[in-house]
Amino acid sequence: MFKIQTLNKISKKGLDLLSRDDYEVAGEIPNPDGIIVRSFDMQTMDIPASVRAIARAGAGVNNIPVQKCTEKGIVVFNTPGANANAVKELVLTGMLLSSRRVFEGITWTKSLKGQDVDIHQVVEKEKSKFGGTELKGKKLGIIGLGAIGVMVANDAIALGMDVIGYDPYITIDNAWGMDHRVQKSNSLDVLLSEVDYLTIHVPLNDSTKGMINADKLALMKKGVKILNFARSGLVNNADLMKGLDSGQVGFYICDIPDEEILDHAKILCIPHLGASTEEAEENCAIMAAKEISNYLETGNIKNSVNFPETDLPFTSDYRITISNKNIPSMVGQITTALASGKANIADMINKHKGDTAYNIINLDDALSPEVVENLKKIEGVISVRYLENKK
Ligand code: 3PG
Repeated sequence: MFKIQTLNKISKKGLDLLSRDDYEVAGEIPNPDGIIVRSFDMQTMDIPASVRAIARAGAGVNNIPVQKCTEKGIVVFNTPGANANAVKELVLTGMLLSSRRVFEGITWTKSLKGQDVDIHQVVEKEKSKFGGTELKGKKLGIIGLGAIGVMVANDAIALGMDVIGYDPYITIDNAWGMDHRVQKSNSLDVLLSEVDYLTIHVPLNDSTKGMINADKLALMKKGVKILNFARSGLVNNADLMKGLDSGQVGFYICDIPDEEILDHAKILCIPHLGASTEEAEENCAIMAAKEISNYLETGNIKNSVNFPETDLPFTSDYRITISNKNIPSMVGQITTALASGKANIADMINKHKGDTAYNIINLDDALSPEVVENLKKIEGVISVRYLENKK
């Protein structure tokens, strides 16, 4: 029986995949094997020593202490692409809201309630205050062509925009999925200098923090509209507001509000609604539940942000999984320890991601607890799991 703790409300469609014959699932549960989380901030949480895996039902993992987890051998999963369509639809909404003064217009129209005026007449007279521009024929720059960036690119092409993308790390699958009319930029600065709209779809980390700052804004066309539906911190707020005040930036719309930008006249802040659709919440929960149960039951890893993708068919009755520091002579020591316990290896795989390596070893026979303990004692070994094939 595995125990899963949920730190947020997670869609039932996902949790129902965890058969209650094999899983206990609850918000409060002692010694959980796994955690499923959405936006709960785990950074300062005392993560129980029993936890083997954390699945984030969403893309960004800023709310999880990933480095600390890696050091403890806790595999952290996310659900790339599962909420991408929802975010894309809100980005398109944002582009439209930054071009057509719908929000101001609706607010003004509401204010007419109870005023003793001829509504039709006053609307026709005043509507010119809320004129806008069209997306068709404008140029959109996209920084980051992951699942969301590619979907935005394709739909912007369908809306008649010119699209240019910048992503030095684009995957082959994402490149395949992109409309051939999307232009590729090898230089962020060139992209910035050409576009009428800019949308950012990269994670927040040391290399992306403040990536849109005064220097970058100065390269852009006067009046550029900027969309940030990724993370707060990617845009330097102080530089942005100076840009908005001088007219260099025409409009900013974001899904992650910061206190200092809330009431700026040329900024619209959405309360982080990108992934808040029924469909996205279900998709994320389903993917998270599959990832964490697959890992707990088989040790196989897919979509982890801190461990390598590792998949070995569970064709034997037993297997051992070992995470270790990615340093020389680990595999030799592990196989020697197994050999000294007379264990016969049926199949094995060894992968690494950065400083962390991960091994799955299929075994012909059961392993004595003593051998498992010896494996844990090898210097550089982070964690060991011994699994029985229940299928
Ligand atoms: C994400 O990281 O997937 C999005 O920002 C959505 O986050 P949320 O699930 O916390 O709304």
